[in-house]
Amino acid sequence: MGRSSTAIQGLGWGDEGKGKVTDILAPCHDLVVRYQGGANAGHTVVVAGKKIVLHQVPSGVLHPNVTCVIANGVVLDCTALIAEMQEIKLAGLSLDSLRLSDQAHLVMPWHKVEERILEALAGDGKVGSTGRGIGPCYSDKARRLTALRVGDLLKPQILKAKLTFIVRIKNSLIRSLLRLLPPEARTEINFQSYRVNNLLKELLQFGEILKSYVCKTSHLLNQALKEGKRILFEGANGPLLDLEHGTFPFCTSSTTSAAGIAAGAGVPPRCVRTIIGITKAYSTRVGGGPFPTEQNNWVGLRIRKRGKEFGATTGRPRRCGWLDLFATRYTATLSGIDFVALMHLDVLTGFRKIKVCVGYTLNGVEIEEFPSDPDDVAAVKPVYVTLPGWSEDISSCRDVNQLPQAARDYLHFIQDYLGKPVVLASVGSDRTERIDFWQLTELMAA
Ligand code: IMP
Repeated sequence: MGRSSTAIQGLGWGDEGKGKVTDILAPCHDLVVRYQGGANAGHTVVVAGKKIVLHQVPSGVLHPNVTCVIANGVVLDCTALIAEMQEIKLAGLSLDSLRLSDQAHLVMPWHKVEERILEALAGDGKVGSTGRGIGPCYSDKARRLTALRVGDLLKPQILKAKLTFIVRIKNSLIRSLLRLLPPEARTEINFQSYRVNNLLKELLQFGEILKSYVCKTSHLLNQALKEGKRILFEGANGPLLDLEHGTFPFCTSSTTSAAGIAAGAGVPPRCVRTIIGITKAYSTRVGGGPFPTEQNNWVGLRIRKRGKEFGATTGRPRRCGWLDLFATRYTATLSGIDFVALMHLDVLTGFRKIKVCVGYTLNGVEIEEFPSDPDDVAAVKPVYVTLPGWSEDISSCRDVNQLPQAARDYLHFIQDYLGKPVVLASVGSDRTERIDFWQLTELMAA
């Protein structure tokens, strides 16, 4: 087995710019793989001023020679996938090489309803989910008897039997949950019982549309590794949203660190040679949960405006703040990154001073580790270092020496703190608006 694969890993609460880096690195790989999450992700790629937002299809789709794989660990929303595939085709791109795991679990309509009801019941304690039914789908995967997988779409008899069992349970479960809601909220949800025949018809149609893409993707990937092909694993969401190590329960429902690759794609952990950690030059978060460096002031507003920080999936305004390097070092350790890609550096242009968080105090005492308890994360006080900002427009810089000294110092500060070299600095949304460091060029040539 070759050890020639690369992993793109976020280092924050998602939205770090993984789509852009995947798109840049895809041409020197044979396959690009999504292995966790689902339609909650939104990976934006901008080419020649044209923006494409990908939710379930890997960001390698812009490159005709790359096979794009949606692996077993993804939870798949068929309706959303088919719509996304249509948009991709309309953009003139080919989907011939798309492959879809028969083991990927299906997000069903009840998952979104269950999520909506639970979030409404949780009130202020809600997770602030993207509403895509991701958590309930992964819950059913763990519960097993109430789960459906892509492979079921191709077996009408088995699908009918499973649906008959599951629909009974879901209708009853949702009706009881609805009873806990106040009448106006119940009316808003406007729940109609699921009918096996209607669902069966719809799912079999999905099966017809998708069947030519379906296969056992773990087999495909292991074959590719045997043949010495290079795979790029495209992480989704972000490790501070990791089910195990994120700010639980304000997190998503999958393993979002590099640890998710092996299980989510069915490949040996050792196949990954290089892990690139992606961080923006500042931090953002969408949804509920603690965010120590959040700036609920003009700083946050300015970052949001300049960085166009609105959810690629939900359109929600993202919460913005100074770069939390303390949390970033924690996630860099979790994924064992080799390099850093520093995104959205241009967004910080115009700040006279830039703060960066290098530690936390809890109850007045400096702490060594990122806390496990979200209440502690909410209670910490960030320890900041203040660095000089720059005023020059850096979007046309293509070499590190063209950057103003203060921007170079900022980049070096991040590199030194994390102890990992920066391989790429992004200075605009387009694929070409970036500075490559020699390591990236070596990596792409390898
Ligand atoms: P869920 O994954 O839809 O259940 O959402 C759980 C939490 O993770 C919410 O706070 C979401 O806003 C957040 N989240 C999930 N996926 C992403 C993402 O791709 N980017 C940013 N936040 C995300």
